[in-house]
Amino acid sequence: MRRFTSVQDLIDGPGLDAALIDALEFARHPWINTELGRRKTVGLLFMNPSLRTRMSTQKAATLMGAETIILNAGSDSWTLETRDGVVMDGAATEHIKEAAGVMGRYCDVLGLRTFASLTDRQADYQEDILEKFIRYSGVPVVSLESATRHPLQSFADLITIEQMKRVARPKVVLTWAPHPKALPQAVANSFVEWMSHANVDLVVTHPHGYELAPEFVGGVTVTNDQDSALAGADFVYAKNWSAYEPYGQILSKDTSWTITEEKMLLTNRAQFMHCLPARRNMIVSDGVLDGPHSIVLQQAANRVVSAQTVLYYLLKGLQ
Ligand code: CP
Repeated sequence: MRRFTSVQDLIDGPGLDAALIDALEFARHPWINTELGRRKTVGLLFMNPSLRTRMSTQKAATLMGAETIILNAGSDSWTLETRDGVVMDGAATEHIKEAAGVMGRYCDVLGLRTFASLTDRQADYQEDILEKFIRYSGVPVVSLESATRHPLQSFADLITIEQMKRVARPKVVLTWAPHPKALPQAVANSFVEWMSHANVDLVVTHPHGYELAPEFVGGVTVTNDQDSALAGADFVYAKNWSAYEPYGQILSKDTSWTITEEKMLLTNRAQFMHCLPARRNMIVSDGVLDGPHSIVLQQAANRVVSAQTVLYYLLKGLQ
C-alpha cells in the first residue's frame, strides 16, 4: 500500500475484511511485529491541533519499531504556502513543494493533518493540500485527517463496533449534534463511507440543511427525525458538522439534538460513540458521556490499533 487517505486504499490493498482481522490481532497483541519499522522514520506534520491522532500515531510507530519526527506547521516549523504561482509576500515562509520534498528525504512514511478551510469547497473537496503533499513528498502518505475524511478515526470506529457489537448486524446511527463553532464534515463523511462497506444498518440523522455531500451519503438512509432514527439503535455516534450548502456555515445550534439519557432510552441499550474532543452538554450530556454505555475511550484506544495496522501495510510496501 502506498497511501492511506480513505477506505478505498484498504479495499484496493489488503481488503477491508483482511485489514479488520489484522487490526483485531494488533489489538490483542500490540507488540507482535516490532521489526518491520526498524531503521525507518515516520514523520507527522500537523497543520491543525491534535491530541489523539498525534499520540496514537506516534505510539503505533513505536509499536512497529519505527522512529517518529513530529512537526506542528507554523509553530515548530515554518508557516506553509499551499497555493501555486503566488508571490509569497505574506505570512507564509515556505512552500509546501519544498517542505513536503524535504520531509520525504528525511522520512520513509509521512502523515499529514490538514483540516478543511470551510471557505473554498472546491479546493477542500479536491483535497488540494493533501494531494500536493503526496505528490511532492515522494513517499507513502497517511492522512491524519484531511479536508473531507478522517480515515484513521473511521477505521478505529469500525474496529470498536466489531469488538463491541451484540448482534451480527447492528443498527448504527450517526446523528448531528450542536456545537458553537463551524466544524468540517470530514468525520461524518468518513464514518458514512466506512459504514457503507461494513456489516451494519446505517441511519444518518440531522436537521434540515445539514445534508452531507452526495458522493458520501448517496444511497444511505437519512432522516431529519432524530427520535425515529434512534429507535432500536445498537450504536449512537454523535458528531457535529457545518453545512455543505451554504458551505461551512452554522445553520442551527438546536440543543434538542444533544444526546441525553432520555434520547438513549429510545435505543436498544445503545453504546455511545464520539471521536473526541466532545463539547459536554452541547454534543452529549455528562450523564451519557460518563455513563456505562459510553465507549469513547475504547474508540480512542483503538486509534493506536488503526494507525498500527495502516503503518504495517505502508511499511510492508517499502520492503
Ligand atoms: N479524534 C481525533 O482525531 O482527535 P484529535 O483531533 O485530538 O487528534
